[in-house]
Amino acid sequence: MKITLYIWRQSGPNDEGKFVRYDVEKVSPHWSFLELLDVLNNQLIEKGEEPVAFEHDCREGICGSCGFMINGVAHGRQYAPEGRTTVCQLHMFRFKDGDELYLEPFRAKAFPVLKDLMVDRSAFDKIIEAGGYITVHAGNAPDGNTILIQKDIANEAMNAAECIGCGACVASCKNASAMLFVSAKISHLGLLPQGQPERKRRAQRMIAKMDELGFGNCTNQYECEAVCPKGIRKDFIGRMNRDFLFSVNTETESKDFVGAI
Ligand code: SF4
Ligand code: FES
Repeated sequence: MKITLYIWRQSGPNDEGKFVRYDVEKVSPHWSFLELLDVLNNQLIEKGEEPVAFEHDCREGICGSCGFMINGVAHGRQYAPEGRTTVCQLHMFRFKDGDELYLEPFRAKAFPVLKDLMVDRSAFDKIIEAGGYITVHAGNAPDGNTILIQKDIANEAMNAAECIGCGACVASCKNASAMLFVSAKISHLGLLPQGQPERKRRAQRMIAKMDELGFGNCTNQYECEAVCPKGIRKDFIGRMNRDFLFSVNTETESKDFVGAI
């Protein structure tokens, strides 16, 4: 089949950027979307043109590197209505001959465009550095199951831990809010016993960093939940807000962050 792509081409962060049309012929329904771009890039290189820059790593839907908008929706989620998907897991059998697709990078103040479809998502790393960790005494590895965790709590922690940090939630929110991502990280650690010692500080520091980096607030429209390739639920935002409010009322560090409420 033939697919027409209108791809956002931007040579660097300071370039204005524009859509450029590319027609790709003989597209196999078995290709993944990234393989479609690989084929296009081979053709561009053969013609002596600049290939399209896009991010990828695992190509298995687990690393969170890939991600851009396809016809206005992060990861092209609308083409996999019965399941969650990342761009690397979206296959061409979802499309039909003659489809015209607009590809553009995630757009958010905190995710500046580096080149073409690639954005700088290091703001997420800075939020994790602010508090998304636990501190443990180093030493021999403890035996498995030394700390018993109730099954339903372990399951819920794993539900939150599924977040792959792709940034689709930010790109889909009119406020460019990172609250679904941050709430997944805070909930994952906060549900487990190992995450308790730093739980209050974690909520304050990660939320303060999120605000500092220019992410917006949640206004309860849940576009983030609708596109999330890992099914992170909006309930985690409520859990994060409860952790934050509880912590600012009970932790001394709160005086520095109380303005963030
Ligand atoms: S919450 Fe979902 S959409 Fe947001 S970064 Fe995590 S996996 Fe991606
Ligand atoms: S390349 Fe890793 S999730 Fe898509």
